Amino acid sequence: MMMNMRKVTIIPSVLARAVKARCLAGTQQQQRLFLSSMDTDRWKTEDWEDFTKRGKYSIQTYNKISTKGLAKFPQEMYDVSPAEFASGPAQALLIRSHKLKEDEVDVSVRAIARCGAGTNNIPVARMTEFGIPVFNTPGANANAVKELILCGLFLGSRRITDGINHMRDLGEQGVARERVEKDKAMFGGREIKGKTMAVIGLGHIGALTARDAAGLGMVVKGYDPGLSVQSALFLPQGLELMDSITSAIADADYVSLNIPYIKGDGGTHGIIGADVVRHLKPGAVVLNFARGELVDSQAMKDHLDNSDGRYVSDFPDDELWDHKNAIIIPHLGASTSEAEDQAAAMAAETIRDFIEHGTIRNSVNFPTTELAERRDHAMRVTVVNKNVPGMVSKIATAFANAGINILQQINKSRGDIAYNVLDFDPASVSDLKVDLRDLQKELTLLDGVLSSRVLFGIPGAGYARNIDGKYHV
Ligand SMILES: NC(=O)c1ccc[n+]([C@@H]2O[C@H](COP(=O)([O-])OP(=O)(O)OC[C@H]3O[C@@H](n4cnc5c(N)ncnc54)[C@H](O)[C@@H]3O)[C@@H](O)[C@H]2O)c1
Repeated sequence: MMMNMRKVTIIPSVLARAVKARCLAGTQQQQRLFLSSMDTDRWKTEDWEDFTKRGKYSIQTYNKISTKGLAKFPQEMYDVSPAEFASGPAQALLIRSHKLKEDEVDVSVRAIARCGAGTNNIPVARMTEFGIPVFNTPGANANAVKELILCGLFLGSRRITDGINHMRDLGEQGVARERVEKDKAMFGGREIKGKTMAVIGLGHIGALTARDAAGLGMVVKGYDPGLSVQSALFLPQGLELMDSITSAIADADYVSLNIPYIKGDGGTHGIIGADVVRHLKPGAVVLNFARGELVDSQAMKDHLDNSDGRYVSDFPDDELWDHKNAIIIPHLGASTSEAEDQAAAMAAETIRDFIEHGTIRNSVNFPTTELAERRDHAMRVTVVNKNVPGMVSKIATAFANAGINILQQINKSRGDIAYNVLDFDPASVSDLKVDLRDLQKELTLLDGVLSSRVLFGIPGAGYARNIDGKYHV
């Protein structure tokens, strides 16, 4: 970790006195103006200037990130630049496929977002140890993938790709016009309307697929033991929920796989194996736009060898790539400009919510924490700590000892990490016993605390880390 940050100075007693005075006089509008001018007084400019890079949050990007997405960061509050051109420490990192190394995460970094669903290019476990939330963008590419699944549905119903290749051959021979009407008999197909579709996995992609399959006039069945309320809202009326993969696919003409790939015992590696494939109807078309490893290629080959069934997949397959009944697509599911825009916009909004308000949404390692609006003029302090007993009371005690009355306190945990959010009104502090700067230091250096933030005033300032018992601001 790089440690090149300047000290941030908070002078709360001055602020508290000023806010109190402000409360006694003037309209609300005047009060706000007064407070905002006090915001800057509160910080010693020479101390925070380098750290905050002229008072803006600094976001560093890896890979080319959609400009439409980056436009979610207002220019007056954020400096956004590629990491290789960045001139100072960043508050947050935005990444697509870059394999992030630990030493690229400066001590100032308080959040990392991946524009996409998977986060295996980020050392998440290490980030959790440092108390840094990692965010992703679940569902941002769901529409793109669903559209390609629908494309696969049509490709699997007619011999369109064979027909296109044949036309190319005829064209090269210069006989396309004379042969086309005769040869088209080789490429017949069937219609989708009235056929049965089984959707395995009814998450972001599966739910949209089920809805649109019903819209095409299909009978839709689904299987998902972990169906979420959010996904259930997208499901079409009349969808029949089944209790196993085999019962869902038993009379299906089409099967759409939309489940995650999970290695190891109880995972989904080869989940569509011989024991499942033998339940497929002879002409069933399997659409795999989830992950190649879900399907046992040999079992699928037997299905394709012995019936008119089809396998349409978005993933390379050493066994099936040239099978006459397989259509293999080069992982194009999420490859649309809209999906990239959507993922970048979602990542940017998630980072903004965390940086500006402390809200945690779509994190792969931190607890979801939806926060009420910070009251006017309230200060918000967030504390990230190890999830061990006694932390909440230690943190509350530090506030009480400082003479600060807490307006609201929230504590959430996930695995080894806990997240505390405390709001207080500086104007209500009549007898401040500890300088807020010292309070932040005391909080941060509590055994088990990893970092703290004061969300108020100048963007980018107010972050402190406890690294092996040493204080870094
Ligand atoms: N082709 C592509 O380019 C592309 C792009 C994005 C995602 N994907 C794949 O699509 C998958 C689904 O994406 P999503 O955004 O819908 O994910 P999601 O997490 O929203 O949904 C997955 C659903 O599968 C369910 N599930 C898990 N295990 C199951 C099982 N054994 N049987 C039945 N249901 C099960 C879960 O409960 C969840 O509802 C991803 O895991 C990913 O592998 C592919």
